[in-house]
Amino acid sequence: MIKNNSFNTLRILIQKYKGFDISQYKDSYIERRVNTRMNLAHKNDLISYIELLRNNPEELNKLMDALTVNVTEFFRNTETFAALETDIIPRILQNKETDSRNVIKVWSAGSSSGEETYSLAILFLEALRKSGKKYGLMVYGTDIDRKSIIQAKSGIYESNKVSRIRKDLLDRYFEEHGNEYRIKPFVKEHVKFSYLDLTSYFVQNFTTYELILCRNVIIYFTLDVKRSLFMKFYQMLRKDGYLVIGKNEAVTGKAVDYLENVNLSERIYKKKYKPAVD
Ligand SMILES: C[S@@+](CC[C@H](N)C(=O)[O-])C[C@H]1O[C@@H](n2cnc3c(N)ncnc32)[C@H](O)[C@@H]1O
Repeated sequence: MIKNNSFNTLRILIQKYKGFDISQYKDSYIERRVNTRMNLAHKNDLISYIELLRNNPEELNKLMDALTVNVTEFFRNTETFAALETDIIPRILQNKETDSRNVIKVWSAGSSSGEETYSLAILFLEALRKSGKKYGLMVYGTDIDRKSIIQAKSGIYESNKVSRIRKDLLDRYFEEHGNEYRIKPFVKEHVKFSYLDLTSYFVQNFTTYELILCRNVIIYFTLDVKRSLFMKFYQMLRKDGYLVIGKNEAVTGKAVDYLENVNLSERIYKKKYKPAVD
């Protein structure tokens, strides 16, 4: 199916109505997702499926849901968050002592419904509370899926979503309302969610970050997109900043010379002060 005329028609249709460029994703990934939707919609060929998409906005929404896998959880990969809590965040706070900028900036790129972003905010707020340090904190979450952003902004989660969060953190950072848990307003003040397509954004007068997490997002992207994204992350990290990617992912391309792996199993990289190659 992929890269023929019908694929191109599909690409243009999705770009036009959803602003989502499927050519930036791996062929195999798009093919699997589209095939699943075609089967569920009882369409045997791509041409008739495209016809359905043209006449049925609901199917277009379902296809978009299938293309943006939103699976996430609070403190997903607990060992990664343990490494952040015990090693990386203390180092970030330490570095702040010689940094003239008073606000710690953190970015969850591909934040889905917000669990990763709030987990980061909670760990930083804990570290600031325990150390007595008075730095400002902003944790940004961005995603291409607008429904996820709305969910993330609400900060409301069903009780089964928070069942694995430590009791002390749950009590301090969430309010219980019946079967729901709500992120407390003082945490939300440090968190901001917005729409961003990682495949097409440009680094301009950019904000820089102490820590960027981009986990379980780039696996779907083509190699070219991954390579250019890693260089953008490098540019957007502050001196001694850290990048964390998914457990099954690896930095590739030119960025390999600019980002030093400091924790192999948790896929944590540090911005190199002086790249080996320029
Ligand atoms: C599997 S979730 C990962 C969520 C979180 N980072 C985690 O590891 O738990 C992948 C997220 O990436 C988002 N995504 C996919 N393509 C994207 C793009 N081009 N730009 C920004 N976000 C994207 C999806 O909408 C989805 O919310």
